[in-house]
Amino acid sequence: MARDNRAKIAEILMNSDNFISGEEISEKLGISRAAVWKHIKTLKENGYDIESVNKVGYRLKSINNSSFSPERFLSILDTEFIGRNIKCFDSLESTNKYVLENSENLEDGSVVIAEEQTGGRGRIGKPWKSKSGEGIWMSIVLKPEIPLNKAPFITLISGAALVDAFRNMDVDAKIKWPNDIILNGKKLCGILTEMKAQVERIECITTGVGINVLTEEFPEDIRKKATSLFIEGCLTDREKIASEFMKSFERMYKAYIEKDDRKEVLDTCTENSVLIGKEIRIIERGEEKYAICNGIDVDGNLIVTDENGHRKTIFSGEVSVRGKNGYI
Ligand code: BTN
Repeated sequence: MARDNRAKIAEILMNSDNFISGEEISEKLGISRAAVWKHIKTLKENGYDIESVNKVGYRLKSINNSSFSPERFLSILDTEFIGRNIKCFDSLESTNKYVLENSENLEDGSVVIAEEQTGGRGRIGKPWKSKSGEGIWMSIVLKPEIPLNKAPFITLISGAALVDAFRNMDVDAKIKWPNDIILNGKKLCGILTEMKAQVERIECITTGVGINVLTEEFPEDIRKKATSLFIEGCLTDREKIASEFMKSFERMYKAYIEKDDRKEVLDTCTENSVLIGKEIRIIERGEEKYAICNGIDVDGNLIVTDENGHRKTIFSGEVSVRGKNGYI
């Protein structure tokens, strides 16, 4: 997938120690100088500290990496209960782990956020890199009275809420079922929903969201498939992003819990899917199978047609889904 010119300009600036002229950028990208200027203006609005010197050019000074401000976040938050109670830490092993271990003392809708996670958890036992100040590492505390089998849908709610929030902020995010948010063909966010339950009763669900915001460079092993808002030249205002996500999340979550209304979530996940209609690989316990991805059912499971033409339902559990020849 071609990266857009704004992301390319952000990359050029990141890789130049000195000023680079508008003319040089316009030649490199084959676009007009006016277009370069417009992209630079948007980058500045997105938090990029770019110095512009007449007849010389542009230089990226620094990125805004002040710590997450709960005061500012609360001043712009537009929700009834999600995020109204926010606990911010400099460092935690994992925000999901913290929520599950302290759920008795955390109110429904509270949010736990950490500048850094020393043992960030990803799906299927994978680690989640969570360096200090580079992202939004957060977990929402949920205490719904729903049967256990309705819990996995909450991952889809988080995915749809992220896509919706990003789109409202002019970020063209897509979703790769069940828990990856994609920008320009690379993974921008991951979601891990975990719960603490008795045999029949949910004590607490936490939907953990990791958003790569200010990461400038990823480690070699994930560089080809991971990206950040900064790398893509998008908005990097962490309080704004978190508050927009929570607003969308609350609307979709309330519809689901109070009215079993799943429409917005399913529509958002379907319309913005990077898998539907494509040939995919399904990887389960090391075994790889090809299929065509048909869609998502009402419970949020993936519907595929296997190599023998049989329609099958894929439950998220321990499955990884990839594009036919690569990550998507
Ligand atoms: C994945 O893509 O595998 C899921 C990644 C989920 C990462 C988030 S960061 C906040 C929360 N705390 C964790 O330990 N994990 C989730």
